[in-house]
Amino acid sequence: MHDARSTRHGLEHRAFTIRPALFHELPLIAKLLTKAFWNDALFGDIIHPYRREFPEDNELYWLRRARVNWWDWSLIYLVSVVTDKGGEEVITGVALWARIGDEARRTNMKLGSRDPRRLLKPLTQAKTNAEARTWPNRAASAEHEDIIERSYHYLDDMWTGKRAESWYLESLAVDPNFHKQGQGRALVRWGFEQAEKEGVCVSVISGDGKEDFYKRCGFEVQDGWSGMGEGNPLAIAPGGLMFWKDVKIDEVASKND
Ligand SMILES: CC(C)(COP(=O)(O)OP(=O)(O)OC[C@H]1O[C@@H](n2cnc3c(N)ncnc32)[C@H](O)[C@@H]1OP(=O)(O)O)[C@@H](O)C(=O)NCCC(=O)NCCS
Repeated sequence: MHDARSTRHGLEHRAFTIRPALFHELPLIAKLLTKAFWNDALFGDIIHPYRREFPEDNELYWLRRARVNWWDWSLIYLVSVVTDKGGEEVITGVALWARIGDEARRTNMKLGSRDPRRLLKPLTQAKTNAEARTWPNRAASAEHEDIIERSYHYLDDMWTGKRAESWYLESLAVDPNFHKQGQGRALVRWGFEQAEKEGVCVSVISGDGKEDFYKRCGFEVQDGWSGMGEGNPLAIAPGGLMFWKDVKIDEVASKND
């Protein structure tokens, strides 16, 4: 439990808790991501230029992604929650952390290579694709809806060498009504702690204007950009600087001994 009632900003802060999300919370998470990224240059204007006409489709974009991600055993959704006056939990923040690297593939978060649960992601993806063909996302630009997926492979080389093993922060959002209360930092800290235990690095691609937030959270090195590489479609998006908390070389050496 993080109790941050008195801070140096002098604001009345709410106590909150960080915990793994539950499957039935995915629609609430999608709602929160829609709200938090409404004015974001990439998820707002570039991917969802018609979101004002079709706000529920914007939410569906996040929900469809979350349902597929849920069955990816190298990803974990965390939420920050506060308790309302009636004693009910309210989700106020969310982080999606991914474990990148051979180690993750080898152990696949403890699933054996023939574990049938590995099929759940491709099956959900196929179902989601079929659903999207029947009910397209009307809030999205037909040209840019899959811009992120089309740019993935341009960045593959970034997670190599000493950075091959990493906890990568895929998404992070805090309800605007709860900004500047330490929730974002706490959701980021979870990945740093995990990475430290495993002796691996931490990585993130920063949204436009969020660079200082990530530096304050402990990312030390800026290297790379989401739009890098000839023909990368994400070159049109502002922001996208990559930040790292690298593992020190002697730590990597002692881990490999
Ligand atoms: C970015 C975001 C997650 C920050 O969450 P938050 O809960 O308000 O952040 P915190 O209160 O934990 O802030 C930690 C520190 O960063 C600072 N900070 C927060 N937002 C900042 C910003 N946009 N720019 C610079 N510093 C920022 C805080 O003042 C605090 O500083 P301190 O070291 O003086 O205490 C939140 O603004 C958000 O959800 N934005 C919309 C979605 C988004 O852009 N997500 C990131 C995409 S990569």
